[in-house]
Amino acid sequence: MKKSSAWWIRIPVIFFIILGLTEFFIDSGHLPAIMTYPEVGYFMLFVLLLLIGIELILNSIENVMFQTLSKEAQERYLLARDKKWEWPWAKNLLHKLWGSKPIAEEGEIILDHNYDGIQELDNNLPPWWTYLFYATAIFAVIYLLRYEVFNGENQIEEYEKNVAEAQIAIEAYKKTATDLVDANTVEQLTDEADIKAGQAIFQANCVACHMPDGGGGIGPNLTDDNWILGGGIKNIFHTVSEGGRAGKGMIAWKQSLKPKEIAQVSSYVITLHGTTPANPKAPEGDRWEEK
Ligand code: HEC
Repeated sequence: MKKSSAWWIRIPVIFFIILGLTEFFIDSGHLPAIMTYPEVGYFMLFVLLLLIGIELILNSIENVMFQTLSKEAQERYLLARDKKWEWPWAKNLLHKLWGSKPIAEEGEIILDHNYDGIQELDNNLPPWWTYLFYATAIFAVIYLLRYEVFNGENQIEEYEKNVAEAQIAIEAYKKTATDLVDANTVEQLTDEADIKAGQAIFQANCVACHMPDGGGGIGPNLTDDNWILGGGIKNIFHTVSEGGRAGKGMIAWKQSLKPKEIAQVSSYVITLHGTTPANPKAPEGDRWEEK
């Protein structure tokens, strides 16, 4: 039996292939599976013992069979086994790519230059080098045609195209991820659906203190020009999200409302501006104008 490799190569190689496959197929988040699930560790230990066991059994079978051989056959077997394992095709390929003459044949290519005993060989260019050179020449022709003759995209155009695509993707993402807004990025919503949703949120949470028409009660009038904490979508979003001044009764709604809902109810509050509530509370705070 000609062995293709030694046991100390075989066992680790098979072991790590199996380990790699388990890691690949077991979904364990950021950590490797072997750290997340102790069972995987036991399994790999079992695999290792199994591999060693197989190796031992194979060895003993070989040993037993060897003992049954005749003396002559034993010698032949040993010779075959210890023959060095090599890849003839790889060696051939390397030789071809290198294209150098074996030292024994150097006599054929020696030049008759002789500089104080230093002589020169007329070696061929190494084929790997020549092929590479041909490849660069072909590449140059293709490159020239594509970019200079047929006006292919240059790097700047490619970059700009990618940026534009990314911009579109960002816009699309922002549309689906409306909960990403905060007091700095929020824009006043004008969609009917958003205002309706804002109204519903207002009815459910805010009317006890601000009255259904925003005229005010415990909380200030939301329909007039005066704002204690500042008007405009950004200030209102901030007030609703973070709450009013301590002890006044306006809580931080970010605990129970999502950013998108805060944006909707804030936009709804803005639509109340200028309406005439039944029992308006006197204006509080300063007049606020959008700059
Ligand atoms: C428990 C009573 C209460 C509830 C409920 C309440 N608020 Fe208020 N709200 C207040 C008080 C009190 C203030 C004044 C806070 C201050 O002076 O700092 C206020 C202030 C505000 C202001 C700022 C007004 C200004 O003049 O600057 C806005 C906007 C506002 N509330 C919107 C809402 C919205 C929207 C809801 C529902 C999600 C809500 N409030 C629910 C009591 C309430």
